Amino acid sequence: MTLTSELIWQDQQHQILFELIDEIKADNVDVSTFTRLIDYAEHHFSLEESYMQALEYPDYDNHLAAHNKFRSELLKMLDDHHHYDKGLRDMLADFLSEWLKRHIFGVDKKLEAFILNSERK
Ligand SMILES: [Fe+2]
Ligand SMILES: [Fe+2]
Repeated sequence: MTLTSELIWQDQQHQILFELIDEIKADNVDVSTFTRLIDYAEHHFSLEESYMQALEYPDYDNHLAAHNKFRSELLKMLDDHHHYDKGLRDMLADFLSEWLKRHIFGVDKKLEAFILNSERK
């Protein structure tokens, strides 16, 4: 495996998260739409967190706090989803994908560089 392909899981999982967030905008949305998004986000965040712990990542606390913020936003949606009309769902989906983009281009990029660097040693 080449070094550049080692973190392909991170990009692929981010892509799936964007697709799941997009599904919130669909007409046939129901509780399973939200549970799939929550489950997948959990799967992705846990994987990043296990890398950070294994590599004793110095910025772990900040990164974990960001994940936890997103976790609580998502869980709130699970409680409230039956009140959402199309306009609100569109707004939420935009908010979540903006948040995710900032996260990916910020702290996730730093983590990616750190992981690649550790694996080179
Ligand atoms: Fe992350
Ligand atoms: Fe991520």
